[in-house]
Amino acid sequence: MPRPINVLFVSPEVYPFAKTGGLADVSYGLVMALRELGVDIRVMLPKYGCVSERKNHIHEIRRLRIIEIPVGHRVEPASIKSSTLQNPRVRAQVYVTTNYAYFDSRKGLYSDPQTGKPYADNDERFLFFCRSVVEMCRFLRWFPDVIHYNDWQTAMVGAYVRALYPTEFRRTRLLFTLHSLTELGVFPPETFAKTGLPERYAEQLLHRGMVNFVKAGIEFADVVTTVSPSYAHELLTGVVDSGGLDELLRRRHPESFIGILNGVDPTVWNPRTDPYLDHRYDAETVWLTKPLNKQQLLQRFELRYDPKLPVIGVIMRLHPVKGIELFLEAAPTLLARRDLQIVFLGDGASEYRSALQKLQRQFPRYFALHLGFDEALAHLIEAGSDMFLMPSLQEPCGQNQMYSMLYGTVPIVRATGGLRDTVVDFDPATGEGTGIVFEEPTAEALRAAVERALQLYQQPELWQRLVANGMAQDFSWRHAARHYAELYRTLVRGKELARAAVS
Ligand code: GLC
Repeated sequence: MPRPINVLFVSPEVYPFAKTGGLADVSYGLVMALRELGVDIRVMLPKYGCVSERKNHIHEIRRLRIIEIPVGHRVEPASIKSSTLQNPRVRAQVYVTTNYAYFDSRKGLYSDPQTGKPYADNDERFLFFCRSVVEMCRFLRWFPDVIHYNDWQTAMVGAYVRALYPTEFRRTRLLFTLHSLTELGVFPPETFAKTGLPERYAEQLLHRGMVNFVKAGIEFADVVTTVSPSYAHELLTGVVDSGGLDELLRRRHPESFIGILNGVDPTVWNPRTDPYLDHRYDAETVWLTKPLNKQQLLQRFELRYDPKLPVIGVIMRLHPVKGIELFLEAAPTLLARRDLQIVFLGDGASEYRSALQKLQRQFPRYFALHLGFDEALAHLIEAGSDMFLMPSLQEPCGQNQMYSMLYGTVPIVRATGGLRDTVVDFDPATGEGTGIVFEEPTAEALRAAVERALQLYQQPELWQRLVANGMAQDFSWRHAARHYAELYRTLVRGKELARAAVS
């Protein structure tokens, strides 16, 4: 038997350690699914201040108590600690990089939770983290077959591997996954000096006169993936903004840039077993149980329960690409109808926070808001809402629309990226479809989509069909994990990459 492929999966957030969005869930779900396929995959992330050592069973590794990490002309200490990621069947080794000044002393992952502003030294923080990944491998004399790194925070791993230690890592292949191109890790040219890389690599890092981590991540990777075929296609054709990196991606497509659709982890997001819920259910019991979850949800948000009013859930990072502006424009007219309620969980820029607070003051009986992120509440929103709104301008994949379908909550989504790939617009004539899909990125189209959902809601037979269709979907990781495992194998064999996935 050939030995299993070994992989180091590097991610800035991993559930349950640290989460600000879908990437954390994907890191957990994909790693567990790959372990189940027999891939020897280990995980590495920074230990932010919000990550509890006790709750996550993080402990010291003697040999890795202090390793020295160059940052520009200085050296900073890192202590690499150990933990595990597990589900009922498998487990994976986790390494966390600890450093008080860069990570432990900060409450937020990338920005100050008080002001919402990114930390001013994010370049240094994540250069330090990326370098710690590479130095740890060298320290352990463990050179994985594949290093799989994710998003701008980890993008510089590729540069360090190839530019600094090409001989030691000569057998290591590099896979870079783009979960979002709204953040590229763009910093002033002076950041280059902090990388510690020789001047001749400037070209790979600089883009439009700035240091661009994602550009470097793409340049040094053997393969680049993103999280849905439609988003890959939209990047290649310029339908969504890639920050000017589309040309780089086009040069790679289709050999080494492809879209692979994310999955859902059934041990975390499953209404039958969800540990966050008091009232669990399946497709048979949803009609009896959803009202119980709905009552609890409305209580949590201090709204009055009225069985006749449908509740629309929203969980959103307050950023224009997620459609916050469309939402704010459409919401007053929708709420003025007084025949629906909206519960909103999210966080982001202060201008959006205050606009939402204003909405709550205007419609106290129909709109309620929770600013921040709360995992338990996210589960209750999925279980207790009747509909779930995602008006994204761009959505690389999106996880919540898939959770919604599995939880019997009808997604109302704009046709973009992974939303387009996972939700099928309902056709009352055939009874086929899993949600409400709208095309135009306008408040008008959003309102019309919600109105269409409200009309269907008034027709129990159609509504029940729509809900049942969603609950019957299979979004398991099996498919994507096989695809990634195959990519790893192909990379290791060094053969030409399979043409795949971009439809
Ligand atoms: C980012 C994207 C989201 C995707 C997630 C996981 O958060 O915005 O669309 O589902 O990453 O890949």
